[in-house]
Amino acid sequence: MRLILASNNAHKAREFREILAPLGIEIVTQGEAGCHFEVDETGETFEENAFLKAEAAMRATGEGAVSDDSGLEVDALNGEPGVRSARYTGRHEDSDADRRAFLMKKLEGVEHRSARFVSAICCVFPNGDVLRARGECEGSIATYERGENGFGYDAIFIPAGSGRTMAELSAEEKNAISHRGAALREFCRVLEEYSNAHK
Ligand code: IMP
Repeated sequence: MRLILASNNAHKAREFREILAPLGIEIVTQGEAGCHFEVDETGETFEENAFLKAEAAMRATGEGAVSDDSGLEVDALNGEPGVRSARYTGRHEDSDADRRAFLMKKLEGVEHRSARFVSAICCVFPNGDVLRARGECEGSIATYERGENGFGYDAIFIPAGSGRTMAELSAEEKNAISHRGAALREFCRVLEEYSNAHK
């Protein structure tokens, strides 16, 4: 089966492929499918935004499309940056490093640093059928950046039970415990059920 990935984030595409390729699911990004557009993420939840992105990619390509809307929820900041994780500083041109620095500044002197990564996956087929999955990864915000792997907030997020940040883990180690890994495994289960029911 081939699915269009409604994202141009190379890191996300790699994580999707690492988990879905062994199951025979080919992931083609919307850019690779010749569609170059960005969807306004106007939803108030990860689920709403995931649907907006997958539906737009399905309409643009005429093929089944899957998306992930994800982000970091920090308890001491009432769940911020949440759905605004990719645009937390408010400046489009800012980098992941700028957003990490912005978050670290807000947490200066804060002792209670619990947080979680959330991933909401949505898959929309041309016949209108919609499949959903969600994954979370509990942890805490480090007091300084560590590690070079991954992307986004990985260098400041310590998964629960780990002495290392997400950016200090190998790709396999991250996929085994990450929010996206959990959501993708749940998505595989839901997709298999759906495929069996529509044989
Ligand atoms: P989205 O493309 O709108 O879903 O943006 C998600 C944002 O959340 C990313 O740009 C990152 O800042 C953050 N994020 C999501 N997943 C991860 C992850 O696995 N590691 C680090 N940051 C992540």
